[in-house]
Amino acid sequence: MRYDTVILGAGAAGMMCAAFCGGRTLVIDHARAPGEKIRISGGGRCNFTNIHAEPANFLSQNPHFCKSALARYTQWDFIALVDRYGIAWHEKTLGQLFCDGSSKQIVALLLAEMERAGAELWLSTTAQAVRHTGTGFALDLEREGKRHQITCANLVLAAGGKSIPKMGATGLAYDIARQFGLAVTETRPALVPFTFSDGRFKDLSGVSLPVRLSNARASFDEALLFTHRGLSGPAVLQLSSYWREGEAVLFNLIPGLPLFDILREQRQSSGRKALTTELARHLPARLVDFLKPVLGLDGNLADQSDARLAELCAALESWQVTPSGSEGYRTAEVTLGGIDTDALSSKTMEVKSVPGLYAIGEAVDVTGWLGGYNFQWAWSSGHAAGTAI
Ligand code: FDA
Repeated sequence: MRYDTVILGAGAAGMMCAAFCGGRTLVIDHARAPGEKIRISGGGRCNFTNIHAEPANFLSQNPHFCKSALARYTQWDFIALVDRYGIAWHEKTLGQLFCDGSSKQIVALLLAEMERAGAELWLSTTAQAVRHTGTGFALDLEREGKRHQITCANLVLAAGGKSIPKMGATGLAYDIARQFGLAVTETRPALVPFTFSDGRFKDLSGVSLPVRLSNARASFDEALLFTHRGLSGPAVLQLSSYWREGEAVLFNLIPGLPLFDILREQRQSSGRKALTTELARHLPARLVDFLKPVLGLDGNLADQSDARLAELCAALESWQVTPSGSEGYRTAEVTLGGIDTDALSSKTMEVKSVPGLYAIGEAVDVTGWLGGYNFQWAWSSGHAAGTAI
């Protein structure tokens, strides 16, 4: 069987690419349903883009690589598409756009766009072998126990990264890229919770508060969530993309709060109030209990000198912890790193040394922040390859 284009992976990027491809297109996926990550994303409501999306929100060895695709298919283009399908949406926070209803609406939109473009979709299909034929590519596919030989002029690697193997992530795109001589940069789990082997935050599980979380490379003002395994929440997921094993991270537990002035004022008006009682007005009470022995939070407000209050505020503004590790690919929302962008055209996503071979989406070394940026990369890179084909 001959197709003009075969797309490996019916995820966000692969389906988007198929919607824009000319000619006869086949999309294959080993899963039983397309767009499974879209379906479970955003708590079932799919954070499908971010109105503030720009190249600065993406990590890559080459931070310039994403610019062209993001500029040629922007968040506004995808919002217009969502609007054309009458899908209601809302901004949750920080420019993050979610469906009012279900993420399945986004999967349905992509399937409808693929159908409009005449693309075929084979599910429960695996690629056994891929070969270069000189004029294109030959693939041995297995679909529900039956073998098929397919040839095509264009082959698009859209099989995503390694995150969440339980959901079908395999690293197939990296393997085929290597087969064609492309470099794959170091891959790491990203947008992932931190773990602590001593279980020190177990008793705080469920406590959440706004923080500023920083290291030498990045800083995020978002929520922190304590879990029975360690630390999570948007602030932690964001910083995990910039963290390396063994490094400490720094929390400001009172960002933007003039706590020193508040404590001095309260010492004046309510000196007999316990220090911990006043702190529990500004921080979760369970966190204050946890910090009591660590920071020596004893006595009444009247017992605290200015120097002591200043020391306490400084400690809350720079609480340093060193995670033992991360939860890894088991729960990571994305994979950092991937197919080296040096090998690709930033305009078309085509492999410079292998005409007709393309790589898009999470498989490529472009990783977005938390908040709809990763889907925007899938839409933009899928569009770039699809329109070039
Ligand atoms: P994606 O992983 O979507 O698709 C790859 C496809 O290839 C899959 O369908 C897979 O089955 C198939 N495949 C893999 N190996 C194969 C093989 N060997 N043979 C055949 N097929 C194979 N992002 C965001 O912007 N907003 C959000 O709300 C969320 N939420 C979110 C929640 C959770 C729990 C996760 C895990 C991730 C997110 N993300 C997100 C990230 C987002 O899902 C991700 O960046 C995109 O899905 C990447 O799209 P791709 O099409 O590149 O890969």
